[in-house]
Amino acid sequence: MIRNVIRSDYLIIGSGIAGLSLALKASKNGTVSLATKKKIFDSATEKAQGGIACVVDKSDSFDAHVNDTIISGAGLCNEKMVEKLVAEGPERVRELIEIGVDFTRKSYSSSGFDLALEGGHSKRRILHCDDITGNEIERVLIANILKYKNISVYENHIAIDLILDDDKICRGAYFLDNINDCTKIFEAKITVLACGGAGRTYLYTSNPSIATGDGMAMAYRAGADIANMEFVQFHPTCLYTTNMSGFFLVSEAVRGEGAILRLKNGEPFMGKYHTYKELAPRDIVARALYNELKVRDENFVYLDITAKNKDFLKKRFPNIYAKCLECGIDMAKDMIPVIPAAHFFCGGVAVDEHGRTSITNLYAVGETACSGVHGANRLASNSLLEGIVYAERVYKNSLQFLKKEYERFSVDFVRNSTNSLINELDIFGYKKRKEIQKLTWNYLGISRSNERLLQAQREIFFLKSEIEEYFKNLHFTTSEIELRNMVFVAEMIVRCAVDRKESRGLHFNTDYLFTSLEAKNTIINIERKLIT
Ligand code: SIN
Repeated sequence: MIRNVIRSDYLIIGSGIAGLSLALKASKNGTVSLATKKKIFDSATEKAQGGIACVVDKSDSFDAHVNDTIISGAGLCNEKMVEKLVAEGPERVRELIEIGVDFTRKSYSSSGFDLALEGGHSKRRILHCDDITGNEIERVLIANILKYKNISVYENHIAIDLILDDDKICRGAYFLDNINDCTKIFEAKITVLACGGAGRTYLYTSNPSIATGDGMAMAYRAGADIANMEFVQFHPTCLYTTNMSGFFLVSEAVRGEGAILRLKNGEPFMGKYHTYKELAPRDIVARALYNELKVRDENFVYLDITAKNKDFLKKRFPNIYAKCLECGIDMAKDMIPVIPAAHFFCGGVAVDEHGRTSITNLYAVGETACSGVHGANRLASNSLLEGIVYAERVYKNSLQFLKKEYERFSVDFVRNSTNSLINELDIFGYKKRKEIQKLTWNYLGISRSNERLLQAQREIFFLKSEIEEYFKNLHFTTSEIELRNMVFVAEMIVRCAVDRKESRGLHFNTDYLFTSLEAKNTIINIERKLIT
């Protein structure tokens, strides 16, 4: 018998580092429904190669990490929050180690860890597990989650929309259960969006297929404040292959070990753009690549780490080495063709220092949220850190709501899905998905202009009405739900990008080749069309 209404203290949507860490903590005091749209292991965290930026070495300092984060954030970081992020990091990392995360060690280093260097960092401070850090963290968190009876895991459940009561309090979410092919209500005292980012809204991305901005789109539709969606970070070095079917990241840590970016003729070029060259903040490196590719009408540049020997590369980057080899590239001998691709959303659902959104009882964590720590350009490897630090903050703040009792819902929503119609729906869905991805890539990419933004706005308006109409008239499938979320994400990006009358950090607009003196967040909201 399928239960169509599921009640718990916490509803956590998403199973990346933020959602899983929070679930573990929350289970100490309440019941947790952890719902994830594919398998529990499927998340952007699982793909994270680089690691967690954290001050663990005596030669490093909180001030240095704060400073690097703020410089990278191009004037838009919430400095108070960056200080908390950095200061709380070591304790949260220690918790990960205690539950079994095995960061790569180096016996003769003063911290005991093999710390990596990445763009924008003035010190080696990235804790990593070889080049599969996220995979190791997910493995350990999941193994721990499965020990707790208080946590019920719902795989293959995709959230459709949030449920708000008449007082605009969030009471849970509607879901499509893809195992039993039916819709369900998850009712909870505390709802947490931990659904990751929206890289799949773009044609080329380092993100896994699940990254369709579900949390951001649901919050936006529910009327939550959304901030800074124009700041989409492009990772400079994704492996270029001729079929381009799935993008594979070549970690920034490879540049941290000395890799040089070269043109097809072998010439290095980053010296023209920044004194840190290959290790400049990510927005600068991605823009440099974009520029070189554009003026030369080329498809890729090369990343050259051939100065390091095979033994070192196989030990330090086993996963990247193997993947390149699969594509016929021996990193020790051959240069790696790379291009930039959409990687991380610095904006998202606006949250305060406790991870609270503007909707009562709704929290957001991780990439779904805009907490102010990334500003206009995230510092490399600060995002896993953000996930664990805010999981703790949400946990502590949410405890006060556990005692509250609410009237229970009556079931008025349950219906069968129509997965049998999938083939018919997929043709429309596939076509529209590609249209959104091309539009974001061409008009909302690394370089923007006012004219192209307005063109994008017009096209997104039509696409959204078509998709909403379609969505209303038919039952749901996962790909339709995602498609609808993607068009809402595109709308949020364009609205924020149009509102920003300057170039700053990741938002580069050729009509404003300057950064204004006053740094302001872009806040949008579906109901008010508000710009502050
Ligand atoms: C990478 O390994 O280059 C990704 C790190 C990050 O995005 O923080």
